[in-house]
Amino acid sequence: MKYVLSLDQGTTSSRAILFDHDGQIAGTAAHEFPQIYPNSGWVEHDPFDILTSQLSSAIEVMGKARVRPRDVIALGITNQRETTIVWDRETGKPVYNAIVWQDSRTGAMMKRLADEGAEEIVRQKTGLLLSPYFSAGKVAWILENVEGVRARAEAGKLAFGTVDSWLVWNLTSGKRHVTDRTNASRTLLYNIVEDKWDDDLLKLFNVPKSLLPEVVWSNEKVGEVTTSLGLGEVEIAGIAGDQQSALFGQLCVSPGDAKNTYGTGCFLLQNIGGKFTLSSHRLITTLACSTDRKLAYALEGSIFIGGAVVQWLRDNMKFFRKSSEVEAVAATVPDSDGVVFVPAFTGLGAPYWDAEARGLIIGLQRGTQIAHIAKAAVESIAFQVADVLRVMDSDTKNPFTELRVDGGAAANDDLMQFQADLLGVPVRRPAVLETTALGAAYLAGLSSGFWSSIDELKLHRKADTLFEPKTDKKQMQKLQDNWREAVERSRHWNK
Ligand code: G3P
Repeated sequence: MKYVLSLDQGTTSSRAILFDHDGQIAGTAAHEFPQIYPNSGWVEHDPFDILTSQLSSAIEVMGKARVRPRDVIALGITNQRETTIVWDRETGKPVYNAIVWQDSRTGAMMKRLADEGAEEIVRQKTGLLLSPYFSAGKVAWILENVEGVRARAEAGKLAFGTVDSWLVWNLTSGKRHVTDRTNASRTLLYNIVEDKWDDDLLKLFNVPKSLLPEVVWSNEKVGEVTTSLGLGEVEIAGIAGDQQSALFGQLCVSPGDAKNTYGTGCFLLQNIGGKFTLSSHRLITTLACSTDRKLAYALEGSIFIGGAVVQWLRDNMKFFRKSSEVEAVAATVPDSDGVVFVPAFTGLGAPYWDAEARGLIIGLQRGTQIAHIAKAAVESIAFQVADVLRVMDSDTKNPFTELRVDGGAAANDDLMQFQADLLGVPVRRPAVLETTALGAAYLAGLSSGFWSSIDELKLHRKADTLFEPKTDKKQMQKLQDNWREAVERSRHWNK
C-alpha cells in the first residue's frame, strides 16, 4: 500500500494524517501546543513548538499506522494562515515569537492607515481589509519593536514567512524559502490581481522585499524532506492555507461551491471562479487552490472564535476536561434559557471587523447553570456563521440552498441541527471531517501522480449526513434578534 502524508498545522494543534489511495484515513496523530497571551488581545506561538509538535505528529502517525517512509509517495502541508514568523537565514532562529492571526495588537496601526485613506487601494490589490488579522501589520510590528531587527532585515539577513514557509524551510534544511499563493494572499502584501508581491504595499507597511519568500502554486513540487528527520526523502508536493485546503478537500472546485469549516475559528468560503470580484458587505476576496496554473478566487467570511470558545470553557473556566464533553453538558438543558454568549475575545471578524469588540455573556439569572452557558457558547458558533452566510447570499445574489461543513466541531450533531434551524437550509456533513488535511493530500497526490484527476477524487466521496431544518422560523428569529442585540453591546469595548 502507498500513502500521502498530510501535515495540518493548526492554531491549537499540529496534526498528521495518512491517506490511502481511496482518500480514506489510514492513521492520525495530533499534538496540542501552548498558546501564549502576553497582553490583552495578543496571541503568540513559539515557532519551535509549531515545528516540533508537527514533526512528532508526523513520526507518530507513521509508527501508529505501521507505514514505512518509502511507502509515502508525497507530503502535503496545510496551515493556520496569516500567522507571522521572522527568522535569521543563517542560524534559523526566529527573532520573535510567531504572532498569531488572532492577535489584535496592530489595531491602532490599521485604524491609522484606514484614516489616511489606504483601505480602498489595499482592497483593490489584495481583496482584503485593513485588519490586524493579516500578516503585514505583524511583520511591521516585529520590524519596529524588536531591537536590531530592522537593520538585519535591511541587510538581507532575515526571512519572513507564514507557517507553511517556516515548515518547508525547516523540512528542507533551509534549502527552500517558499510560500504558496493561497498563503501569500493572506499577507496584505500580495497583489492577487497581478499575481505578484506589490511594491506599493511593501512601501505602505515599510517591509523590505528581501524578507519575502518565493511564491509557488499549491500543487507544485518544492523539494525533498531532509533524510535525517526520519520521514524518508519524501517530496513536498502540495501547500495550501488551511481554509483553501478544506475548500479543495470538499472538492468545491466550481464557481458557487462553498463550505464552512468549524475549527479554532470558522471560515465560510465560496469558490467564485477566475474573476477577481469584491464583496459589498466586508467579506474578503482571496486566492483559492487551482491545479491548472490559473488564478482562482474565493469569497471568504472569517470568524475568529469558533471551536476556540469550547476550549476557553475547558481551559479558562474549567467547565469540563475534554472539549468533546461540551455536547453532553449542553444537552442536559433544552435551551440556553435566554443566555447569549458573544465570544469576541480578540475582536470580531466578518462581517463586523471590530478589533475593539470584546466577549460578553448576557442574560444570566439566578437559575443559570454551566449547561446554559455551554449551550450559549455552542450556539454562538452557529450565530456567527449565519451572520456571514446572509451577507454572502446578498453579495453573490445566489442564495445557499444547503451548507457543506467540516472541521472538528462539525462532529457535534446538536450544533449542526441548530445551524440548519438557524439558516433554514440543510447542512451537509461529509463522512471524512478532516477535509483540511485531505485538501493538502489531494494537492500533493495530484502533483506526484498518485491520483490522476479531480474526477478520480470525486469517486472517493462516501454518503454524507444531512441535517434538515426542523424548528419554527419565528422562534429562530427571536433568538437571532437577541444575538444581534448582544453583538452590538460587545462592540467598541476595548477603546
Ligand atoms: O485564518 C486563520 C485560519 O487559517 C485558522 O484556522 O483551523 O487553525 O482555525 P484554524
